Amino acid sequence: MPQTVSKSLLDVHPRELKGIIKEIPTLPVIYQELFQKMQDANVSVPEIAEIISQDQALTSKILHLVNSAFYGYSKEIRTISRAVVILGFQAVRSAALAISVFDFFNGEDSNQIDMTQFWKHSIACGSICKVLAEEVKINQQEEAFVVGLLHDTGKLIEKRYFSDDFDELVKAAQEQEMTWFDTEKALFQIHHATIGKAIFRAWKFPSSVVDAVQFHHTPDSATKFPQLTALAHLGDYMAYPLGYPSPGALPPTGCNPAALKILGLTLEDCQRLIPKIEEDLDGAMEILKLV
Ligand SMILES: [Fe+2]
Ligand SMILES: [Fe+2]
Repeated sequence: MPQTVSKSLLDVHPRELKGIIKEIPTLPVIYQELFQKMQDANVSVPEIAEIISQDQALTSKILHLVNSAFYGYSKEIRTISRAVVILGFQAVRSAALAISVFDFFNGEDSNQIDMTQFWKHSIACGSICKVLAEEVKINQQEEAFVVGLLHDTGKLIEKRYFSDDFDELVKAAQEQEMTWFDTEKALFQIHHATIGKAIFRAWKFPSSVVDAVQFHHTPDSATKFPQLTALAHLGDYMAYPLGYPSPGALPPTGCNPAALKILGLTLEDCQRLIPKIEEDLDGAMEILKLV
């Protein structure tokens, strides 16, 4: 697997990003097959179960995830078919989407940032998105936690495939005491949110995930999935004071008021939900066992 791509982030123009992403390996065939099948309205439970059960590790990870607090189902689910029947295709697809990304970046190590802290921030964001999604009763509740979990995946692409630029980015952010996003904007023509969009599009993830990841720092620009995008923005913002900061740079300077407006929430509403979020987080951190 190539660990670098042909260009430095310093030279990548946004128009070139699609071509650069093609140099990055795709997800294993089993995920591609799975995501393709799950887009077919006529797909059956046994068909999905059969694809997943070809891979023992994937099967046990999906079962671990669907039995975690994220799904809040009290009885243990022991088979994939049962998971699909009880929780639905969407939940199993969400679990598979999350696991596929975890697996892709498995074993990632870093001298520059604390990877455990990175994953904790991601899980915390997923958990916050989930609780807020329930509160405002949006349509894509299932995808809310996936979007939260995967919002900063672009940073992992930077780290693995543009490691020199990544080192420079972390150094600059710390020296200049800046946020990650502002440091990227100062140094490069692209940033982790657009990189996240490009990779998820190339991996054929649902367009809701692609869009929410793309606009998680600029929720007022989201047009197709504004609520999911606003959730990702708020989830990221709220994760820092809850004790789950993203490593390597300063916290966001504020919350974009557009995100609150889109969801019909106030900061006081978010504050009121903190005990519920903290309760959810305890169980959610179980997901760390997947990485
Ligand atoms: Fe971000
Ligand atoms: Fe983040």
